[in-house]
Amino acid sequence: MKILFAASEMTPYAKTGGLGDVVGALSSALRERGHEVTCCLPYHRSVAETAPEAKRIGLTLSIPLGSRAVTGDVLEWTQPDGVRVLFIRRDEFFDRSELYSTGVRDYEDNAERYLFFSKAVVELMGYPQFRPDVVHCHDWQTAFVPVQARYRARTHSTGSGQARGAEFAVKTVLTIHNIAYQGMFWSLDFPLTNLPGGFFTPDTLEFYGQMNLLKGGIVFADRITTVSPTYAEEIQTTEGGFGLDTVIATRGANLQGIINGVDYSRWNPETDPHLRQPYGPEDLSGKRACRADLLKKLRLDGFDKLTAGAGATRPVAGFVSRLTAQKGVEILAGALEELVEEAGLTVAILGKGERQYEEMLTAAAKRYPRQVAVRIAHDEELAHQIQGGADMLLIPSHYEPCGLTQLYALKYGTIPVVRATGGLDDTVKAYDPRTGRGTGFKFAPYTSAALVEAVQQAILLHKQPKKWQKLMGHAMACDFSWQASALEYEKLYAAL
Ligand code: ADP
Ligand code: GLC
Repeated sequence: MKILFAASEMTPYAKTGGLGDVVGALSSALRERGHEVTCCLPYHRSVAETAPEAKRIGLTLSIPLGSRAVTGDVLEWTQPDGVRVLFIRRDEFFDRSELYSTGVRDYEDNAERYLFFSKAVVELMGYPQFRPDVVHCHDWQTAFVPVQARYRARTHSTGSGQARGAEFAVKTVLTIHNIAYQGMFWSLDFPLTNLPGGFFTPDTLEFYGQMNLLKGGIVFADRITTVSPTYAEEIQTTEGGFGLDTVIATRGANLQGIINGVDYSRWNPETDPHLRQPYGPEDLSGKRACRADLLKKLRLDGFDKLTAGAGATRPVAGFVSRLTAQKGVEILAGALEELVEEAGLTVAILGKGERQYEEMLTAAAKRYPRQVAVRIAHDEELAHQIQGGADMLLIPSHYEPCGLTQLYALKYGTIPVVRATGGLDDTVKAYDPRTGRGTGFKFAPYTSAALVEAVQQAILLHKQPKKWQKLMGHAMACDFSWQASALEYEKLYAAL
């Protein structure tokens, strides 16, 4: 099958979170299954460094954007695994330090940027060498693709342009990685779509007077998926649907939850080049070295003789996350004092995102310079080193469509302590002290107290090394490789 992915992020070219990981890994997994896979991405600033091999192919697209015609150059590169990547280059839109927003506010021209990109993807489908059997879009940034494809197919198949319209009648799949981000813009941006007014109605893109791109995708895509079965349920509720639950409900028969997988070629402690020393379930000595390395790097107590007494026996918890309301930053910040002073935890935090959350964590950590380290950055290497060096990973998310860091943590024997929501609930099994079964610790109320209680349970077990190691064994034995999920997507495409 010829599969075209349209997305704004893909590891290793551009990434703010799990979307990038999923697009990178799922495309490879589908390629491995024998499909012809092409991924189309904006040429973000980071691409010059991460895909220097990408070359112009002598194709410049001209995209109508309201009253303007805006051009974009197409660059191409084929990865060693055979996945072809097409980049649409328009520096005015994508040569920026961030993908969507500065820490304070979204870029003001996001509607223009991503309408341009989505239209460019559909335009590409008009060229025989790029025409797919199915186009798979991801999140609001490319949710306009199904709308535009449907429009182009419809307009051109009536009247004289029959042949040309057929090219755009491609089946579309939209994956919702996070329904809170909808690509919502004021109605005055609607003319940028160049669609007739019939597309700005309550049945189409209009949403309480605004233009909602994700809604457009939900209405027009042939199939909709999301990234875990529990999240597929949650987005149909008032609390989890962020206003789109009723729209989703109209497509219920075409909605499916498929759990994400892990790219174990990137996330495996036995082969991870970022770790001080590799380790695996058979020999955990490397994990101790990684732990000491992490403490040293972050200048936390416990890595040398001088501070060994103070920190060597303290369990280390990591937190690696985009810093947004979704991720439970405030309950973590509210729990730090108790976790550090009473529970005796050392905490390594890596995050980047909204300024208010960055400041919240930095302020909470200031009091404990030797027990809490906060790094405000996007740092791929440190993310791996925290997975390798920490004893447990804290994921107190308010909601979590799937979550990948808990899956990485399991592989690294870093016990996840998670809030029971969405994909976190689907993938972590609560430790049962009676049977010794389980892979992590869970709590339900969205409060600092509940988080502290769950961490305390973990710490209690950590004090019993034999039992803790057994738990690590269970965690490390989990298999979330992409094969099973890629097969689900394949079945979905085939059924279209
Ligand atoms: P989300 O997509 O909501 O951010 P996921 O758990 O699905 O959450 O994916 C997060 C991904 O982003 C993981 O690969 C994680 O390691 C990475 N990540 C998050 N924050 C950072 C950061 N500050 N530096 C490096 N990697 C990060
Ligand atoms: C989103 C979600 C996260 C999910 C990721 C990849 O960013 O917040 O839970 O794992 O997408 O699907």
